Amino acid sequence: MDLKLIISKDGSHTIYRKDIEETYHSRHGAIQEAQHVFIDMGLKEVENSKNEINILEVGFGTGLNALLTCLYSKSKINYIGLEALPLNNRVLDGLNYDTTVIEDNSQEIFKNIHSAPWEVQYPITSLFSIKKVETKIQEFEITQPIDLVYYDAFGPNSQAEMWDISIFEKIYKAMSSSGVFVTYCAKGQVRRDLTSAGFVMERLEGPPGKREMLRGRKL
Ligand SMILES: C[S@@+](CC[C@H](N)C(=O)[O-])C[C@H]1O[C@@H](n2cnc3c(N)ncnc32)[C@H](O)[C@@H]1O
Repeated sequence: MDLKLIISKDGSHTIYRKDIEETYHSRHGAIQEAQHVFIDMGLKEVENSKNEINILEVGFGTGLNALLTCLYSKSKINYIGLEALPLNNRVLDGLNYDTTVIEDNSQEIFKNIHSAPWEVQYPITSLFSIKKVETKIQEFEITQPIDLVYYDAFGPNSQAEMWDISIFEKIYKAMSSSGVFVTYCAKGQVRRDLTSAGFVMERLEGPPGKREMLRGRKL
């Protein structure tokens, strides 16, 4: 993969993948996007009603969403991060999240998330454990009830197969009741397909630089 580190507008890194001409995060601010879409609109919503949360992330990538979740959650988190093409250490070591996320322990947590073994649920702190799985969501069997989904795939224009309704149906079935699904994507067809899969959908204000995002709930 031909990858290039770039600085997004909030000063945090993202990665540009040349073959599909896509970045891993919003160029308007990688951390701002992750904070708004996944933490503020996802994690905080679920934490209101649960004190132990199973999170499924589709597209673990740089581990930024896992880092912020570990830093900002007040609940016990069992995190599963699915990744079809794990990034190598040379790329990961170049990322500046350990210095742009201003928390005393962010550097250590980021390092521990990446050095954790794959395929096993591994404790990072007393409240946060992670299982990184090298697989495609299409091939992954979800065996535990999921309370919160971070759907962070590349956009429908560059990776249409990630937005197929069959994936949404599979995820919906695996979710606990009142489970929440968040994605930065606000495309009308995606919202309609998530609705057809069973989710009750909301359009929410997007992160800086983006008008809207989507949140779904299993009632
Ligand atoms: C938008 S980027 C993810 C950003 C990531 N959450 C982060 O914070 O860095 C999309 C990710 O999905 C991964 N991916 C691509 N196809 C996938 C699939 N079928 N199943 C799971 N992950 C996939 C890509 O390799 C990439 O890491």
